[in-house]
Amino acid sequence: MLEIDRLEVRYGGITALRGISIEVKEGETVLLVGANGAGKSSLINAVMGLVPAESGTIRFANADLSSLSCDRRARAGIGYAPEGRRVFPSLSVTDNVLAGAFGLGRARQSEALSWLHESFPLLAERGNQLAGQLSGGEQQIVALARAMASFPKLLLLDEPFLGLAPVWIARISEAIRAMQRLGTTILMTEQMARPALKLATRGYVIRGGEVRRSGPVAEIRDLALADEYL
Ligand SMILES: Nc1ncnc2c1ncn2[C@@H]1O[C@H](COP(=O)(O)OP(=O)(O)OP(=O)(O)O)[C@@H](O)[C@H]1O
Ligand SMILES: [Mg+2]
Repeated sequence: MLEIDRLEVRYGGITALRGISIEVKEGETVLLVGANGAGKSSLINAVMGLVPAESGTIRFANADLSSLSCDRRARAGIGYAPEGRRVFPSLSVTDNVLAGAFGLGRARQSEALSWLHESFPLLAERGNQLAGQLSGGEQQIVALARAMASFPKLLLLDEPFLGLAPVWIARISEAIRAMQRLGTTILMTEQMARPALKLATRGYVIRGGEVRRSGPVAEIRDLALADEYL
């Protein structure tokens, strides 16, 4: 479903990704694990079209993404929850979620909202509250729901557990499992390898913009956990 081939990303003189190749097959949950600065967000943002590729290709559903804007990539079926659980703080929880369903049409929007309310009762209970007033974990649920509201084929999650207490990590994990049950293909990054390894089928350990090791979760577990404490 997603094929990244020799992708290079640079910011001025800094090379963040050095010709990285990654594949995500339909129905998989693939984990990118690595320390601060490894290049995880750069990869996710390049797939979404938020940072340009210096060289290499990104293909989604057999089409080259390079000429597509961020907006067109979203319409093509890519959902994105950025690092740092960014919500629109001065919009209500419901409007935040609906922002992710923009352009879907009324019927599909209300379908998305009722499905999300069912999965995450918090969204219904706090629907009218400003998103900026929620706790960190609650905001992460809103950010995930916004990314899910368009029923994406591929969901990009950048460090969904960042800065969260164990109880919230468990809740977010449950939300990710709900997405998996819907058949969503997921590419997620995480520094906290332990809970993320429980969700993934396969993973890549990234260091210095390169793949150090890749394979089924059982094969990368030791290296991923060693990296966690670097
Ligand atoms: N906008 C930018 N301008 C300049 N350098 C950047 C920019 N964004 C990232 N970098 C650099 O690119 C490298 C990779 O950063 P990136 O954010 O992709 O790593 P990461 O694995 O997501 O790290 P973290 O775990 O801290 O989120 C780092 O050296 C970082 O300093
Ligand atoms: Mg990052």
